[in-house]
Amino acid sequence: MWVFGYGSLIWRPDFPFVEREHGTIRGWKRRFWQASTDHRGVPGAPGRVATLVRDLTSETFGVAYRIDEPEIHGVLADLDYREKNGYERFEVDVVRDERVVAPNALVYVATPDNEHFLGPADVGEMAAQIAGAVGPSGANRDYLLELHDALRGYGVDDPHISELSELVRQLSST
Ligand code: BEZ
Repeated sequence: MWVFGYGSLIWRPDFPFVEREHGTIRGWKRRFWQASTDHRGVPGAPGRVATLVRDLTSETFGVAYRIDEPEIHGVLADLDYREKNGYERFEVDVVRDERVVAPNALVYVATPDNEHFLGPADVGEMAAQIAGAVGPSGANRDYLLELHDALRGYGVDDPHISELSELVRQLSST
């Protein structure tokens, strides 16, 4: 079984896996539209973390991990717990060089009907929120910049992430 990560799972998978493949999924775009009150923010001062939004014209880069049979139960339980704040599971095919490298991968998406879904906002407002938020897992800023670095490590430019990262860096240096 494969699990596809598009957020922190790209650079910090926290479960055992037997194989890893990077690639893109079609029909989804990555956006910092989900509030985090338990990892990268707190109630009253939520951070923003990545989710996927349906968009038939987009594709999103990420990393898929193949999990061995004996581990599946524990890994899914951990992911379900970790993402209890409104995430739903979908299945995607992960493609690289026009070849499916991870078929029917499970992906966790915070959908627009969940109570922590913030949706779009002015990019400057989103950057300011991210620059200021801190939660039990650390600074919201670090989550964004680590995602940006990880994507660049794969040679991927995600314009939404690059724009937010640039603005957050500017805010932090003033
Ligand atoms: C991720 O890091 O890609 C991720 C992990 C759990 C739920 C949603 C996304």
